[in-house]
Amino acid sequence: PREEIVKIALDGPAGAGKSTVAKEVAKKLQMTYVDSGAMYRCVTFLAIKNHVAMQDEPGLFKLAKAMQLMFIPSEHGQGVQLDGVDVTDAIRTPEVGALVPLVANHALVRECLVEKQREIAHTAYHVVMDGRDIGTHVLPDATVKVYLTATLDVRAKRRHEELVRQGFTGTVSDVMKLLHERDEIDGRREIAPMRPASDAVILDTSCLAIHEVTAMVVSLCQARMHNE
Ligand code: DC
Repeated sequence: PREEIVKIALDGPAGAGKSTVAKEVAKKLQMTYVDSGAMYRCVTFLAIKNHVAMQDEPGLFKLAKAMQLMFIPSEHGQGVQLDGVDVTDAIRTPEVGALVPLVANHALVRECLVEKQREIAHTAYHVVMDGRDIGTHVLPDATVKVYLTATLDVRAKRRHEELVRQGFTGTVSDVMKLLHERDEIDGRREIAPMRPASDAVILDTSCLAIHEVTAMVVSLCQARMHNE
């Protein structure tokens, strides 16, 4: 059988397990992992740092266009380097998390980042990309499309554990409120809102362990790779 270049689109709301699963799948199948949310987070981080308002679309576009982003594979997953500086943790603060949907709402910012995402997907070989609009918009021809979901309760608990490890002192219900607000904005925006592609496999991960979800995604890919 001919060897096909495989592109996996992994979408869904925050805390559904996308990035953990994407990293595991990438490791197992020797793929490049592209964290598209990190790109929106980097623009938000730069806006805060440079005092660019979240409503200033041309200002945000300029930041997005000029930024030099690199994903650096590491022991524990993947680091993010922005203009030569390691921002892996700095882009995951609750402050960036709360503001990022406002940045992701601007058409100019999205067009610019989508172009960068397609370019990375095109240059890399096998790719797993996670986000909100990968299966519907960024990579509509992806080999495998998976939409991960989980109840708000479960997602908030997962994200809370992650944040506590980074020194966060708020409660699970604080996190739940933040996630809920974020999902609302991401799901309702006019351009490329968060939703499953019509040909996506929808997986509810509420009662599944990470390794189980990973195994399911890997077997979907293998089935696709061997059938075509
Ligand atoms: O996956 P994440 O939590 O790092 O994503 C951060 C934000 O970026 C999320 O609130 C929505 C936005 N985003 C998007 O609009 N489109 C994507 N493909 C990825 C993320």
